[in-house]
Amino acid sequence: MVINPDSIKSLIDSHIGLLDNMYLLRRTIDRLINNVSPHLVEGLKRESMSFLKSMEQNIRCEEEALFPVLRSALGSKGAPIISMLGDHANLKEGMERLRTIITNLETENIEECRKMTNFAGEEIDSLIDLFSRHIDKEEKCLFKLAREVLAEKELVEIEKKMKEIEIE
Ligand SMILES: [Fe+2]
Repeated sequence: MVINPDSIKSLIDSHIGLLDNMYLLRRTIDRLINNVSPHLVEGLKRESMSFLKSMEQNIRCEEEALFPVLRSALGSKGAPIISMLGDHANLKEGMERLRTIITNLETENIEECRKMTNFAGEEIDSLIDLFSRHIDKEEKCLFKLAREVLAEKELVEIEKKMKEIEIE
């Protein structure tokens, strides 16, 4: 297994991928609103579940691998971590709402399907907004701090832990 020693870069890459996924989902939702079809609903379900899984993994990687190490390194200067945890809690709520809508989506009643797909679109829009602002803060503030206070050895340990989370 190749370990990229720069766990901060891995997290930034995963942010970029997740944001791309969100925009793709938004596009699939728009297609479905214009053309309600079982085929597109199945595609949307697949895309959404895979997106939600990656999103959960990213949050777990930060909360279980990076934040604990960073918390001890920052000591009393750990306030940004608390702010990021608050964002994560809000993101998780939005993700659960999206999961519920998508799981219950069916094509039997076309108008109902369109209505629920619209709700899913609103949820993804609000996730895009929340996540964009969150990663901006995380990258400019917390990750910058992490680079200043964490030793190379710690960054490698974090990366190993993140790899474990990703294959669970
Ligand atoms: Fe985060």
